[in-house]
Amino acid sequence: MADIVLNDVRKKYGPVDAIKGVSLDIADGEFVVLVGPSGCGKSTLLRMIAGLESITGGDISIGGRVVNDLEPSERDIAMVFQNYALYPHMTVRQNLAYGLKNRNTPKDEIERRIAAAANALEIEPFLERKPRQLSGGQRQRVAMGRAIVREPAAFLFDEPLSNLDAKLRVQMRVEIKRLQRSLATTSVYVTHDQMEAMTLADRLVVLNAGRIEQVGTPIELYEKPETTFVATFIGSPSMNLLPMEISTTWSLAEGSRVPSRTTTLGVRPEDLHLLEPGATDSGFKIDVTVAAVELVGAESYVHGVLPKQQSVVFRVPGRSRIVVDEPLTIHADFESLHFFDASGSRLD
Ligand SMILES: Nc1ncnc2c1ncn2[C@@H]1O[C@H](COP(=O)(O)OP(=O)(O)O)[C@@H](O)[C@H]1O
Ligand SMILES: [Mg+2]
Repeated sequence: MADIVLNDVRKKYGPVDAIKGVSLDIADGEFVVLVGPSGCGKSTLLRMIAGLESITGGDISIGGRVVNDLEPSERDIAMVFQNYALYPHMTVRQNLAYGLKNRNTPKDEIERRIAAAANALEIEPFLERKPRQLSGGQRQRVAMGRAIVREPAAFLFDEPLSNLDAKLRVQMRVEIKRLQRSLATTSVYVTHDQMEAMTLADRLVVLNAGRIEQVGTPIELYEKPETTFVATFIGSPSMNLLPMEISTTWSLAEGSRVPSRTTTLGVRPEDLHLLEPGATDSGFKIDVTVAAVELVGAESYVHGVLPKQQSVVFRVPGRSRIVVDEPLTIHADFESLHFFDASGSRLD
């Protein structure tokens, strides 16, 4: 059981500033997800918490103890990697026991912990197999099991599901969430997948080029992104960002409430709706020509083009009757609009 506190943490690789001053308080038992595009510094930050990477500046505390100069083995954390990192010549049982034996854990205690983890992860049938005799999902479970049996103060995950196919990824995501809830162990989870981040996190940390862009619950980030970066990173398809100068082509009934420094207007694909002929428009209204319609199952994504060639995407339920080249009018309620200034910062 431990909180994790990062205080102005920095990392330089030679001239490269990989982490440019990150401060973050992670509460005991909390599930925090670090999310951001490839190369933004997620793994670097996680590896610094784990002790696998030295710290150029700042402090990291785990359970109230500054760990900057402690070896990974002295930090009481367990890490789960994308590539599983299982010992190929050992059985699953031996893989699970290995770290505990090294710490001189009594034999009956090792047996007890392996039985509990194997039960929780439903890997009892595979305990005597070697990793190569397991599927990817089963190997990932064993990697999880190896972290669980340690009963660490915190779990650190680096894209643990990236090597699994889409269906298994969803299944394991649900299992990881359930396990973390029942163990209530502080967890820091790295992913570039915003969907995984949204569904797993108690709190999300969006990283961009070595800095924290925004921290909040998934719903806070979705409903009130502080920057255009977060606005487009969270949610799929991405929020539409439209330049204000398209104002010649849209009408805004309550336009006086648009903040004066607005340069970019944001609207989510789910907040745009078809305006039926004859209906009175509300809020924001634009005319588009349909460029493409993608059926993705329960809904369709309609891609429209505005007169000045800006594109906009909106969602319609089910199989749409909308066809390419059709002219449409779409609208959004004023309340669903997001306003940003020239620097990409939120204005309301
Ligand atoms: N060992 C290293 N030496 C030099 N640069 C590195 C090293 N590891 C990572 N970087 C750089 O630091 C930045 C962050 O990398 P990383 O933390 O791996 O990003 P992410 O996990 O978000 O994809 C990248 O620009 C990457 O090229
Ligand atoms: Mg990485």
